[in-house]
Amino acid sequence: MGPYGPENGFCATILSQYDPQLLDRFKLEMSYGIERFFLLSYCLACCWPGLGAKSELRIVRQWPELEFVFPNEQAYREATDKRYYVPGNSVPIDVDVHHRQGDQKSRIFITIPRFDEGRPMTLGTVDDTGRVSAYPDYSWHENQGQNCNGFTSVFRIAIDECNRLWAMDTGKIGDKDYCPPKIVAFDLTTDNVVYTHIVNASSYIPTSLFITPVVDVRKRGTDCSDTYVYVADVSGFGILVVDVARNRSWRITHRLMFPYPSRGTFTIDGQSFDLMDGILGMALSPLRNNGIDRDLYFHALASTTENVVPTSLLRNESYLHDSNADPQSIKVFAEERPNQAAAEAMDRNGIMYFGLMEPPSIWCWNAATEFSPRNFHQLAVNRETLQFASGVKVVNNLKGEQELWVLTSSFQRVMTDTLSSNRINFRIHAEKIKALIENSPCKNSPKERHGSHRYHANLITPSRGYKSGTYKYGAVSYL
Ligand SMILES: *[C@@H]1O[C@H](CO)[C@@H](O)[C@H](O)[C@H]1NC(C)=O
Ligand SMILES: *[C@@H]1O[C@H](CO)[C@@H](O)[C@H](O)[C@H]1NC(C)=O
Ligand SMILES: *[C@@H]1O[C@H](CO)[C@@H](O)[C@H](O)[C@H]1NC(C)=O
Repeated sequence: MGPYGPENGFCATILSQYDPQLLDRFKLEMSYGIERFFLLSYCLACCWPGLGAKSELRIVRQWPELEFVFPNEQAYREATDKRYYVPGNSVPIDVDVHHRQGDQKSRIFITIPRFDEGRPMTLGTVDDTGRVSAYPDYSWHENQGQNCNGFTSVFRIAIDECNRLWAMDTGKIGDKDYCPPKIVAFDLTTDNVVYTHIVNASSYIPTSLFITPVVDVRKRGTDCSDTYVYVADVSGFGILVVDVARNRSWRITHRLMFPYPSRGTFTIDGQSFDLMDGILGMALSPLRNNGIDRDLYFHALASTTENVVPTSLLRNESYLHDSNADPQSIKVFAEERPNQAAAEAMDRNGIMYFGLMEPPSIWCWNAATEFSPRNFHQLAVNRETLQFASGVKVVNNLKGEQELWVLTSSFQRVMTDTLSSNRINFRIHAEKIKALIENSPCKNSPKERHGSHRYHANLITPSRGYKSGTYKYGAVSYL
């Protein structure tokens, strides 16, 4: 029945041809990074023609449609009866990975937002055969908005350097409000909740949809209490700032967080759709200015621009209400991408990674250089496998190496209602960053080039026509 059903036996046969001792040593060696996932992908390559399609990223998992592990037969039947599970409806959006010490397997997490009915779980882990199990367990997911203790709908997640997984729950299914938005953090060693923040009604508006969290930890030794989470409000056009230590949050809005009508049409693989999504992609720079600040890079989905704001401003609840605030505190780069990008991420050396819609591809940009197509370097391109990169993450493995993980989907088929389980629609890709950027100018990080303060974000000049004087930030409507 499953996509891997009959092929499983074939793969097992292939794997059984390896000397078991050799295989064990192989596995042990591979257990510290993405390699542990590739034994299977190698095996699956035998089963799936086209899997080996050339791309500089390796495919770790792929699905025509998602398959789920239910805790028992009754839960499965109930989910099916109530249309909490409709086969083929689930669309994964984000990926993150947690590498674990010892003989514990690394875990791949994916999110499945509830744009609509039929998604039995909204956050899960993916097993070796690609089946999704609810995280932390099914009881968090079966409520489907009927009570607010568990998850209602999760778009994206973030794993931080303190071994915590942050999940932002929008509280909505489709357009319907069920619960207040909330952010939950789990300790990945115990899978216990270590923090919950329910967003106060004063910090969102009816159209708010909190979809992308990024976590800013200022670690002191092992103390992780100084943590802020910034969350993109894709249709309220703002950023939610969560001050974890004080358990408070506030929302900031700005014109650069809105979509651009001229960029609201997307064309992928010959299919087009309109989507006026605002701020979606967000990436945090490494600590700069002697370790006291970070920049937050962000862009709207329906845009080709990239913007940047020092996090010190976001963290100051009153700053943007100050009429003496510098109008250039939130900046847009002068040059633009050739077409739209969804998710983005930045590594510890200040290299940004993002996908482009056309051609479907993954790129890097060195933040020490001008934000310009001249300085965007293509790392992988594939018309079929790299469509719509909605999840982009930099993951640290246990050897201290950085890995790039990307979730792609044929989102154009989702939007045009032409999804078919006869072809692969969703893929997770990964590669070590060192290997990926080996032959690209992104290899020379900002630090190596200029010292940590020479980020191009610091060199943006005020837009023409602006004369100094008082200024009002964030007004959205007035007349
Ligand atoms: C934070 O506030 C929420 C209400 O928004 C409350 O339920 C939660 O217990 C608080 N968390 C901490 C760690 O104080
Ligand atoms: C929470 O929201 C309510 C209603 O908007 C407001 O009256 C209250 O002051 C807010 N509380 C905090 C802590 O911001
Ligand atoms: C926050 O912003 C306000 C208004 O501009 C300013 O007076 C205050 O000094 C800032 N606080 C910090 C900690 O920077």
